[in-house]
Amino acid sequence: MEQIWADVDKYHDQTLVKPNAEFVNLQNALIEAELPPISVTPSLGKLLELLVRFHGSRRVLEVGTLGGYSTAWFAKALPANGYLLTLEIEPKHAAIARKNLDRLAFPCQLEIKVGDAVQSLKELHESQARPFDLIFIDADKSQYPDYLDWCIKLARKGSMIIADNVVREGAIIDERSEDLSVQGVRRFNEAVSRDPRLQATAIQTVGAKGHDGFCVIYVDK
Ligand code: SAH
Ligand code: DHB
Ligand code: MG
Repeated sequence: MEQIWADVDKYHDQTLVKPNAEFVNLQNALIEAELPPISVTPSLGKLLELLVRFHGSRRVLEVGTLGGYSTAWFAKALPANGYLLTLEIEPKHAAIARKNLDRLAFPCQLEIKVGDAVQSLKELHESQARPFDLIFIDADKSQYPDYLDWCIKLARKGSMIIADNVVREGAIIDERSEDLSVQGVRRFNEAVSRDPRLQATAIQTVGAKGHDGFCVIYVDK
């Protein structure tokens, strides 16, 4: 990774993003808990917060909680009548997230559901959950196509779906890649491409986490 990318991220954090002490403490708590350093960067977290605000989202669904860092940016944006559901397969991750998010005491209702996200999404659909306004896909990259199918069912006309890590240092363009994450995201892109209900773009990013990117989808169903 180029040092300048991390330095510019740091500069933007200091000038524009300005994560408050609670967000900095949360990042430190996740390092102390020895979670992998794969949470969204502060600048992407801030973008997620702003998207919730621009879009006026009230119901946010997240697939992949880890320590709850991206979750916290969503929770910061949601009003008291907002609802945030985040799905996590690892009980240990969910427990760390729960502890840290409770400390931040956000006004919205915040639930962490432990289990395989595909199963949880299926159950949500079967229980006729109200549609979500904004959905963030960020769990197992090899399962992105499955998450997408269920997330479309849980969306409404005008919902926004954002998928993280869709570039992977450029590996995404290697159609012969044997990396299951790359294959998963390529199948995800193909599914988006052939679905007439979806309009999408992807933005490459460089920063403290190297070269990656995210996909933004508009649901028209
Ligand atoms: N969104 C977080 C980072 C998530 S990392 C942030 O930016 O702060 C990906 C998470 O997805 C990990 O915690 C991993 O345990 C979880 N995960 C992997 N496979 C999953 C599955 N099938 N269902 C639910 N969660 C899963
Ligand atoms: C990985 C997962 C992420 O969600 C991320 O933002 C970066 C890396 C990973 O599994 O390697
Ligand atoms: Mg990610």
